[in-house]
Amino acid sequence: MKLFNSKILGTGSFLPDKVLTNFDIAKRVDTNHDWIVERTGIHTRRISDLSKGECPSGMATFAAKKALEAANLTPNDIDMILVSATMPDQVMPNTASVLQEKLEITNNCPALDVNAACSGWIYLVPMADAMIKTGLYKHILVVGSEMLSSFNNWDDRNTCILFGDGCGVAILGRASENEDSKIYSSVLTCDSSKKDHLTLLAGGACKRTTHEVLNNNEQWLTMNGQEIFKAAVKTMTAHADKVVKDAGMTMEDVDWFIPHQANLRIIEAVGNRYNIPMDKVIINVDKYANTSSASVPTAFDEAIRSGKIKRGQNILMAAFGAGLTAGAVFLKY
Ligand code: ACO
Repeated sequence: MKLFNSKILGTGSFLPDKVLTNFDIAKRVDTNHDWIVERTGIHTRRISDLSKGECPSGMATFAAKKALEAANLTPNDIDMILVSATMPDQVMPNTASVLQEKLEITNNCPALDVNAACSGWIYLVPMADAMIKTGLYKHILVVGSEMLSSFNNWDDRNTCILFGDGCGVAILGRASENEDSKIYSSVLTCDSSKKDHLTLLAGGACKRTTHEVLNNNEQWLTMNGQEIFKAAVKTMTAHADKVVKDAGMTMEDVDWFIPHQANLRIIEAVGNRYNIPMDKVIINVDKYANTSSASVPTAFDEAIRSGKIKRGQNILMAAFGAGLTAGAVFLKY
């Protein structure tokens, strides 16, 4: 069977215009700019405006149009849509099908949502790669689009400082025979023994959103920050190490590292443990906070568009999220 290599044909991202600063948050809860910067590295985050269509599918539409242009493709060239949105537009129809309509894709391509929280986009890349490799699909739109402001409890200082909204996408397709772009290696895991450290239990089939749920404030995300912090550092370091070794390379071969942008201290701890210089690490958590599964593709797109990431370079990506899901991808761009 002939196998094809996957290439990142184009990327795009979208961040809402509305900026929420630490000072804005400090007007509502007992916190301050210096504490937030010292503990997280976050200065600002972006907040969606639904009146401008900035829901998950809307942000994905804006980002996907940029990726299509970068890839020199038309909407109907897309033959599969994969969307990670921890909080989708609505339960039904899925966000991917809404996105298909908004992009005016009329070829009836399959459109699927996946929920692996902040690891969602990283989970989707190896899946898209497998389908490109075998020739099943030619152009797969892989989306991480997140509106965390919709389930962020703005009265809980432990969590509300951490999150922001945004979207990042990539279009994966076949590399031609004379190109050496490829996904070298990947790893995806889930440690469900730690699943209770990061939850949003209301709104699903087991706990419908009743008056009682709302009265108890159970419709918001809850988190055991320190447990997540420790697990994130350990898992992202191990996964980064594994995918680089699996590709038969060493850290010296990595041109750029794009970790999930949850907290600058987590990123620095992974960098220290893995001995990767910080000037090889792409960071945007200071501007956008944690945009869940949008964080890695957003950082990826910005680094490409700013000219930092160039064709032929080796890019290492790692993420973790609720579940606790985690994954890493090592690729030649
Ligand atoms: N402002 C001021 N003080 C605060 C704030 C705040 N916003 N939040 C907490 N504090 C206080 C606490 O109440 C505590 O006070 P106490 O000592 O009197 O009890 C003190 O600061 C220290 O709190 P810690 O929780 O120990 O602070 P820590 O240094 O661990 O930082 C943080 C907290 C930023 C949440 C950190 O643990 C973290 O980033 N964890 C990882 C979170 C994460 O990555 N989540 C995303 C997961 S991905 C996904 O799928 C969504």
